[in-house]
Amino acid sequence: MRLPRSVEAAEVDGKVVLVRSDLNVPLEDGRVADDTRIRSSLPTIELLLERGAREVHVCSHLGRPKGPDDKYAIAPVRERLRELVGDERVTVLENTRFNPGETKNDEAYARELAEGCDVFVNDAFGSAHRAHASTVGVAQLLPAYAGLLLLAELENLGKLLGEVERPFVIVSGGAKVEDKIGVLENLGSRADEVLIGGKMAEDVRSDNPFSFDAVLPKDVVAASSFSPDADTQVTPFDSLPEGWLGLDVGPETREDFARRIAGARTVFWNGPMGVFEWPKFSEGTFAVARALAESDGFTVVGGGDSVRAVHDAGVADRISWISTGGGAALELLEGKELPGVAAIPNA
Ligand code: 3PG
Repeated sequence: MRLPRSVEAAEVDGKVVLVRSDLNVPLEDGRVADDTRIRSSLPTIELLLERGAREVHVCSHLGRPKGPDDKYAIAPVRERLRELVGDERVTVLENTRFNPGETKNDEAYARELAEGCDVFVNDAFGSAHRAHASTVGVAQLLPAYAGLLLLAELENLGKLLGEVERPFVIVSGGAKVEDKIGVLENLGSRADEVLIGGKMAEDVRSDNPFSFDAVLPKDVVAASSFSPDADTQVTPFDSLPEGWLGLDVGPETREDFARRIAGARTVFWNGPMGVFEWPKFSEGTFAVARALAESDGFTVVGGGDSVRAVHDAGVADRISWISTGGGAALELLEGKELPGVAAIPNA
């Protein structure tokens, strides 16, 4: 895979650097609820400070506001970043999406961001699939480099697109098969096995859109209604009683999937096996998380829900690579070129 040139090659001593990070984090009661993306952005900011940057202007979008909107003010993110990097040379600009020019890749807004800066570093892997002013526009106005997180994502996810150690097993789940068709068709046709759980397993059973054979659940945890306290029973996957909903994979499937994962040398997981936020339906997803953790092969997790699941299962530190990108990771694995990466000159 083509790698863009690294921030490590940039001359930043005494310079003003604009950094695009992906600090699009969940907020709760006006505070940062999960600072993973902020922490993942620190190595690049710290490198620039160590190498003598005079000022580091960090910018990011937060949520999907249509213009200025107090609910999406960057203040809580700025505060958290200040707690983590107490260096006065670092400033955090206001939410880039408060400017309507951002999502249109408007040149005037890109000029505004680049004003007074000498170098641009894009570290926002999670936003690299967006051709916006702060990801693509500024890269055309300033000497542009890739940040350390962006590069690490490309290197690790890129391994799945190259010669992988086999067996290569993909585990996929979640609600909608439409969202995963591109990535599963591209990766799945190169994998030895594709295990499918979650709601999308039902869609694949009734109308398989893939050119490869998918491994479907053997049994499910059926619920009498869509509720955390619903009555449950384990039933075969293809004979769910009328009116009941399959909200998790069953014990036989957990064992089957775990055994297949244990035999793999490369595993990519995207999407939960059920409604894992509800304890009665979390076992299938946690069984997959634990199976990846126990593997001594190369394991990659991408996509918001499965990332949350490996954290909830307490095994995040035993996964080879956890991607900070949702849509960006899927587009990359689908084989698409990411505009934010394409805008940076080659290494
Ligand atoms: C994400 O959370 O996937 C990224 O920050 C991109 O956000 P967006 O889908 O609003 O562009």
